[in-house]
Amino acid sequence: MQGSWGLRYTSPMRVVIHGLTKEFMTGKGKIRALAGVNLEVRDREFFGVVGPTGCGKTTLLHIVAGLEKPTQGKIEFIGEKRTQAMVSMVFQDAALMPWRNVERNVPLGPEFREQPAPAYKRAAHFFLEMVRLLDFRSAHPAELSGGMKQKVAIARALANDPEVVLMDEPFASLDAQTRLLLREELLGIWEKDKKTIILVTHNIEEAVMLCDRVAVLSAAPGVVRDIIIVDVPRPRNFKSMSDPDFIRCLEKIWDLLRYEVDRAMRQNHPSGVDSRDKEGPRKPYVDWWD
Ligand SMILES: Nc1ncnc2c1ncn2[C@@H]1O[C@H](COP(=O)(O)OP(=O)(O)OP(=O)(O)O)[C@@H](O)[C@H]1O
Ligand SMILES: [Mg+2]
Repeated sequence: MQGSWGLRYTSPMRVVIHGLTKEFMTGKGKIRALAGVNLEVRDREFFGVVGPTGCGKTTLLHIVAGLEKPTQGKIEFIGEKRTQAMVSMVFQDAALMPWRNVERNVPLGPEFREQPAPAYKRAAHFFLEMVRLLDFRSAHPAELSGGMKQKVAIARALANDPEVVLMDEPFASLDAQTRLLLREELLGIWEKDKKTIILVTHNIEEAVMLCDRVAVLSAAPGVVRDIIIVDVPRPRNFKSMSDPDFIRCLEKIWDLLRYEVDRAMRQNHPSGVDSRDKEGPRKPYVDWWD
């Protein structure tokens, strides 16, 4: 639609997740990874997902990315597509092609779409500059630190020009200081090139620092326990972590999560039937946490 000042108006793109369930058939029987996840991620939102190990976070991202099919439910992208691709994914371990240098690892999306070489080379330069790695464009992945590899993976995801970037614990394999630095860099990149991001992390401080809202998933099989609004002012940086709103938000998430983490630890079979399901409702968690 053409606006009165010649501007192009597009309807914002939302990701709507309806009643998503996922069961895997394995040699040991059926594993329920997700048990009915409902979520709506807004346009250009930085959306976090936290939950105990094995609760289905990676499975959820894989389904949104189209890498897995749900058993039930569906994903809808509602709104006008403004970009070249629907989703890009950043994995925990960068997953770069070791035989290609940095500059040739970044523009995989445009290259696979058979865009002309000068266009995807320009895209590679633009995004390598954004993650401040242009000087390393000729290096191969083996010559880079873990943090640098993750930045290449972020540049690659952005160069694909997606509506939504999915990040599965992108900094989990990094040391604590590099993690802090990359968090701030990712915030800076997002401020410049606001994409919708869905970030899975085990680090709730990271979730609060980066996200607009954070979904807390239950122990396996995962459902959404609650969605916490992160009302910490932006721009955020290291100092935001001592802001009382930041701490309040951290506590809110942890209050929900620690119950679910404990529940996951008590389940001997991470994605099987929770003992609570057999025994009826457990007492409210405040009874035994506070
Ligand atoms: N391809 C698969 N085949 C069989 N089972 C699977 C498969 N992928 C995941 N699962 C099972 O589904 C459940 C959820 O796994 P998933 O990797 O999504 O959890 P997660 O929340 O990402 O865990 P973590 O926090 O440890 O990364 C687990 O019990 C896992 O063993
Ligand atoms: Mg995972």
